[in-house]
Amino acid sequence: MDERVISPERLSEEQSPDVGLRPRQLSEYIGQERVKDNLSICIAAARQRSEPLDHTLLYGPPGLGKTTLAHVIATEMGVSIKVTSGPAIERPGDLAAILTNLRQGDVLFIDEIHRLGHTVEEILYPAMEDFVLDLIIGKGPSARNIRLRLPPFTIVGATTRIAMMTSPLRDRFGIVYRLDFYDPKAMRAIVRRSAAILGIAVNDGGTATIAERARGTPRVANRLLKRVRDYAQVRAATVISSGVAEQALNLLEVDNLGLDEIDRKILDAIIVKFGGGPVGLETIAASLSEEADTIMDVCEPYLLQLGFLERTPRGRVATRRAYEHLGVPYAPGPEQPALL
Ligand SMILES: Nc1ncnc2c1ncn2[C@@H]1O[C@H](COP(=O)(O)OP(=O)(O)OP(=O)(O)O)[C@@H](O)[C@H]1O
Ligand SMILES: [Mg+2]
Repeated sequence: MDERVISPERLSEEQSPDVGLRPRQLSEYIGQERVKDNLSICIAAARQRSEPLDHTLLYGPPGLGKTTLAHVIATEMGVSIKVTSGPAIERPGDLAAILTNLRQGDVLFIDEIHRLGHTVEEILYPAMEDFVLDLIIGKGPSARNIRLRLPPFTIVGATTRIAMMTSPLRDRFGIVYRLDFYDPKAMRAIVRRSAAILGIAVNDGGTATIAERARGTPRVANRLLKRVRDYAQVRAATVISSGVAEQALNLLEVDNLGLDEIDRKILDAIIVKFGGGPVGLETIAASLSEEADTIMDVCEPYLLQLGFLERTPRGRVATRRAYEHLGVPYAPGPEQPALL
């Protein structure tokens, strides 16, 4: 898939994260109030007891602030953070090396934790539960087990696919939070904050337009803000108003709900090619020559959130709202269950 301006995933030009835009403390972290309230209690309690925070699992669609929150947790706990990811830890020895380098209370952030290999996971269980590392030294008849004590630490795991985690791993997290798409008010606050940090002049109308089209996703909001800034600069607009933002985003083919060409193609395929569904994800993906994984992780969560799609046991179904958004008369196929 070409790089899309509304992709909630990090684009190649963004490989080094936007350090300046990333909130550092809980008080700077906008939205997700329920998560923040709960987390601040857990953090305060752990600090009072001079213990590390319980292992914490963060899940939800890409670009909602899981990595950011992991760093915030370390800052609020006053500890260092080491960063790794499921696919980066290939062998048990890799994990052993990381764990033995942790200091008391440190946070080990494991991104894409659902992609840890089986043998690595088995090392992680006793490490998380009892802070011990069970290693086998040597080979054959002379092999022996040794057990190393580790200083207590906190694993913060992040995943977009909690269903792909094994239950023994999931069960070892004492704290589990789901991050949701941000509400409109939080989105406007994020646009305003980022504009202030980047020195971009944007009025309330411009802020609202960018916020509305950013799919409830802070990473998308920051990216749209920058693209609109480019447009305003070239068109010599001194302030980003809603009119300027609309022109810029229309040019990028991001519509008033934040859908782009690929989202519209998915809906169009379900409605036109497959009579509104139900149709399997693999079939949709094949008909568009896209990866099923990309559709599932990147496009679907937001289409579900908008109420444009339903997941049924027999596949995806387009709802009346999706027809209306595309301007197609609502005429579901005979196979479609009564919906909405
Ligand atoms: N609550 C927030 N308030 C303000 N800005 C935020 C917030 N959460 C995230 N951001 C901004 O959004 C960007 C993306 O966040 P982050 O990298 O933490 O997402 P993520 O959930 O880890 O995504 P992925 O699943 O793709 O790794 C950050 O660079 C940050 O600037
Ligand atoms: Mg991340």
